[in-house]
Amino acid sequence: MNDLDHLKRKVDLPIGFVDSGLGGLSVLREAVRIMPNEDFIYYGDSANAPYGTKPQEVIKELTFHAVEKLLDYGIKGLAVACNTATSAAVRPLRAKYPELPIVGIEPAIKPAVVNSKGGRILVMATPMTIQQKKYHNLLEKYRGDADIVSVPCEGLMEFVEQGNIDGEELDTYFDEHLSPYLSDDTETIVLGCTHYPFLKHHIKRFLGDRKISLIDGSLGTSLELKRRLEEKKLLRTIDRKGKIEIQNSTGREEMIELSYQLLNMPIDF
Ligand code: DGL
Repeated sequence: MNDLDHLKRKVDLPIGFVDSGLGGLSVLREAVRIMPNEDFIYYGDSANAPYGTKPQEVIKELTFHAVEKLLDYGIKGLAVACNTATSAAVRPLRAKYPELPIVGIEPAIKPAVVNSKGGRILVMATPMTIQQKKYHNLLEKYRGDADIVSVPCEGLMEFVEQGNIDGEELDTYFDEHLSPYLSDDTETIVLGCTHYPFLKHHIKRFLGDRKISLIDGSLGTSLELKRRLEEKKLLRTIDRKGKIEIQNSTGREEMIELSYQLLNMPIDF
């Protein structure tokens, strides 16, 4: 096979997505929107979720394991669609697979600061993301420009994993875990875990009349993924709708069904 044939075959491969469960689907739906011709394969590791309360070494091992499953399948690029897994594993993944375009996701603090009008910025994320050096470096960079407060949200991703994205228990959760951080001048909440965009509608309702914008990094990550694939000439040029395959480590059919429901949820409703 010559180089051109090889590149052509590679172009036909799907783009891989991994997450500790169903959260990365919030990134995948943006990626599908901006790259509709591509095929995607999504691996949700719900059997080992949550990652966000596990030690870094364990998260790294689980992420490598999930990525290897996608590599066995054959992928041309990878999105680590999980803030927690990105901070624990994206660097060693890039070192091990230097040929593979790999993007990760981090809490969207930069856009929150750029658009800031001087109010408080809250960052909702898993306890592990908040403890990581990567996150501290990010905070250090912007701390001088804004009042940024981290909100550890242990137990929140589980609501999404259970398909409970609009129940009353969520109000109790937000009363206990979010309300203590809300100040009169809070202007932005960064959704720093890929599960949380699926709770956006409920969070907005919980916030009521407060003028607070909710932002996340899913579009930024998808655009970066597209850019990296384009740079390597790995984007498809044919005009046909791509396919999406979803796998879940629980092997449970209802998790796959829930995944498709979440994927098809409108982005801003
Ligand atoms: N979706 C993951 C993230 O973006 C984390 C959820 C978890 O496994 O704790 O951080």
